[in-house]
Amino acid sequence: MTVKVGDSIPSCTLMVMGESGPQPITTSEIFDNHKVALFAVPGAFTPGCSLTHLPGFVANADKILAKGVDHIVCLSVNDAFVMAAWGKDQNAEAIMMLADGNCELTELLGVSFDASGFGMGKRSQRYSMLVENGVVKVFNLEAGAGVDVSSAENLMQAL
Ligand code: BEZ
Repeated sequence: MTVKVGDSIPSCTLMVMGESGPQPITTSEIFDNHKVALFAVPGAFTPGCSLTHLPGFVANADKILAKGVDHIVCLSVNDAFVMAAWGKDQNAEAIMMLADGNCELTELLGVSFDASGFGMGKRSQRYSMLVENGVVKVFNLEAGAGVDVSSAENLMQAL
């Protein structure tokens, strides 16, 4: 079932690049007692994600953080090496580049889709969320292929 406003973020472990390589990080560490602006993409370095979605959050990161957001999270079904390389390529120092390489959180949220037609296997649908202390307050799931309701600019309307 697809996640909805009012639901809690399920418990699981993701990966993030640390000083000495990929490190596990739990959803509890990310979301508990924090206000989090999260956006999820089908794939690092893909055109829609690299030309529009991530750059929108990079450009607006200071404004988003100034609204009391503790973390801006970019989530994708990719490994931590790829997520770190993508963040470096996009000057996304202000964004936590989170790897859901096993598609675990994406599946638990009910937002995976079959991207095997692109040779990409199981991936995340594109969406953004505002999460406060682990509870989903805003959920903007894209119905189509582009970046529209899940954009940084649209999520900012809710902050
Ligand atoms: C994109 O441009 O975001 C994209 C391209 C192919 C598959 C999935 C996403």
